[in-house]
Amino acid sequence: MPAQPFVDKLNEQIAHEFAAHQQYVALAVYYDAQTLPRLAEFFYAQALEERNHAMMMVGYLLDQDVAPVIPGIDGPQNTFADIVEPVQVALDQEKRVTSQINALAAIARDNNDYASEQFMQWFIKEQVEEVSSMSDLLNIVERCRDEPLRAEDWLARENAGGEGADPTAPAPAGGAV
Ligand code: FEO
Repeated sequence: MPAQPFVDKLNEQIAHEFAAHQQYVALAVYYDAQTLPRLAEFFYAQALEERNHAMMMVGYLLDQDVAPVIPGIDGPQNTFADIVEPVQVALDQEKRVTSQINALAAIARDNNDYASEQFMQWFIKEQVEEVSSMSDLLNIVERCRDEPLRAEDWLARENAGGEGADPTAPAPAGGAV
């Protein structure tokens, strides 16, 4: 059985991951409404990744014979000053999640819960990639603040939203979407 302090914190994290999903849907819809389809596509894909992160955590608790608590969440930010602000919101969110993931790994280790510590390793790696890709995108949209189509071109060229399936990823409960 996972350590109870880890279970409590992981249930909180499930809420943070679903909140990240909702926030990324809101960012995608903002760009979609502005007819910026590449930026929209990038954040629609990110939203699904966050949903899958939440369901990987649900799956881990189910595998460990612990009943997960599916949370309600606060609403996301829906209005933005310009094309830069959504990416800043996203980067701030990823940095916050990185601290939360590191804290979860630390709680597992402090409680000698080595299976849970190992479960968190994939998320630690994932956060490094997500902070890096969001910080690249922030550089780009800052440079293209008044010419958003250049940011669209960059995304089309770099295929920045396209991430292949990762065979090392934990299985989400019910399967990945
Ligand atoms: Fe699941 Fe990017 O945090």
